[in-house]
Amino acid sequence: MTDILDLRGQAAPQAGSDRAAQVLEAGGVITFPDRRFAMSSAETRMLDPSISDGRAKNISLDPATGRVSGTKLDDAGQVILAEMIGRFAQTADDLLAELTPRYASALQRRRTSFRPGAISDRALSRRKDDRRLHVDAFPANPVQGRRILRVFANVNPTGEARVWNVGDDTFAAVAERVRKRLTARGRGAGLKAAFGVTRGRQSPYDQLMLQLHDAAKLDDGYQADAPRRRLELPAGCMWVVYTDSVMHAALSGQYALEQTYLLPIEAMQDEAASPLRILERMTGRSLA
Ligand code: SIN
Ligand code: FE
Repeated sequence: MTDILDLRGQAAPQAGSDRAAQVLEAGGVITFPDRRFAMSSAETRMLDPSISDGRAKNISLDPATGRVSGTKLDDAGQVILAEMIGRFAQTADDLLAELTPRYASALQRRRTSFRPGAISDRALSRRKDDRRLHVDAFPANPVQGRRILRVFANVNPTGEARVWNVGDDTFAAVAERVRKRLTARGRGAGLKAAFGVTRGRQSPYDQLMLQLHDAAKLDDGYQADAPRRRLELPAGCMWVVYTDSVMHAALSGQYALEQTYLLPIEAMQDEAASPLRILERMTGRSLA
């Protein structure tokens, strides 16, 4: 079952308790309904899908260079965007420091994204369609077994909620279903290749996670039948979730900010609950 922990006000779970880590690691979503990400009037002018360059899915800030990509704005506009997205990254850092002190020193901050487009506008292949239930896996950025923890903010100026479906099955159950299906269809060879061959910096874990992502999205039966819960994430709210283990689908909404972190599993409260360890137990192999 997906545990939705709704945190109003500033207060994190009892200081020193590991309640938040426990909820997240068990596949929960932690929502902060009244954590509005404040924007200046110059920044609210960035709430416009036409600032996108039309090629990239999102506008993103590279922490290494401090530069934004995915926008056709001029230098002055890019400065405003970089400052806004950078401030969101800091806000996400602060939120997690408060929420899960045990993760704080281990979290590795990655790309920060701004998503000005309406979700339902996207016309995409099934594999690229995030309206279908999936776990996140990055083809170009292998994680080598580290967790993907994400912080989101809905910054919609007209009050429109961002609507997600969140799968109710555990990661282990989903992985088992996919494995059975692949085996039944004689696609075991593909899976075996994932365990035996490493492409580039991709570990067998990365390859397996990409297969899980694709298999779930391409499985019309799973998409139709999987137990799920609809989650309305109101404008002015933030939320935190492990998107590598929690099946999620973004159904509708517009204007969000998102911060991605990687977390080495040793920093988890219970690393046995990580997708890496679950898949290793399932396959009897070391994957990263
Ligand atoms: C996703 O990670 O699938 C997309 C989430 C979102 O943009 O709300
Ligand atoms: Fe996703």
